[in-house]
Amino acid sequence: MKELMVKKINNGSVIDHIPVGAGLKVIDILKITPDETAVVLVNVESKKLGRKDIVKIENRELTENEVNKISLIAPNATLNIIENGEVKKKKKVSLPNFLEDVIKCPNSNCITNSNEPVKTKFFFEKKEPVKLRCFYCEKLFDLEEITF
Ligand code: CTP
Ligand code: ZN
Repeated sequence: MKELMVKKINNGSVIDHIPVGAGLKVIDILKITPDETAVVLVNVESKKLGRKDIVKIENRELTENEVNKISLIAPNATLNIIENGEVKKKKKVSLPNFLEDVIKCPNSNCITNSNEPVKTKFFFEKKEPVKLRCFYCEKLFDLEEITF
């Protein structure tokens, strides 16, 4: 039943092993356009352990920026690239060394929130749990404070 609930796709991306509840955030990050089709499976049984969410999007390869965003909210996700009905590439997401133009700085006084054309830049002070330091205002933030 679990695997038959949503059909396989022919071409596109499947983001698997998303923590339960984070699937809708992943859909949000991907900003599905009116000519695209995607599906979120919520709280499905995982072969390995426990439960997970899955997101499938047809005819789309994710950008590095999107993968970086997903790595923050789904650090154990697997990204599958599907071609002609087959898994062509499978890759575990991983946190990059820094984030450039990926998230907003929560500090409203930060130069990245002014009218200056400055791209946000964050370094990981810690990866588990995630603590990010803004390169510009030097403030430290938890994942819960971050918006995309
Ligand atoms: N998938 C899909 N359409 C395809 C092929 C695969 O939607 N044409 C989906 C599968 O339903 C699964 C994911 O892509 O959710 C990965 O497929 P596969 O590697 O076959 O599954 P597993 O072996 O279970 O993956 P893993 O070992 O990463 O858990
Ligand atoms: Zn800042």
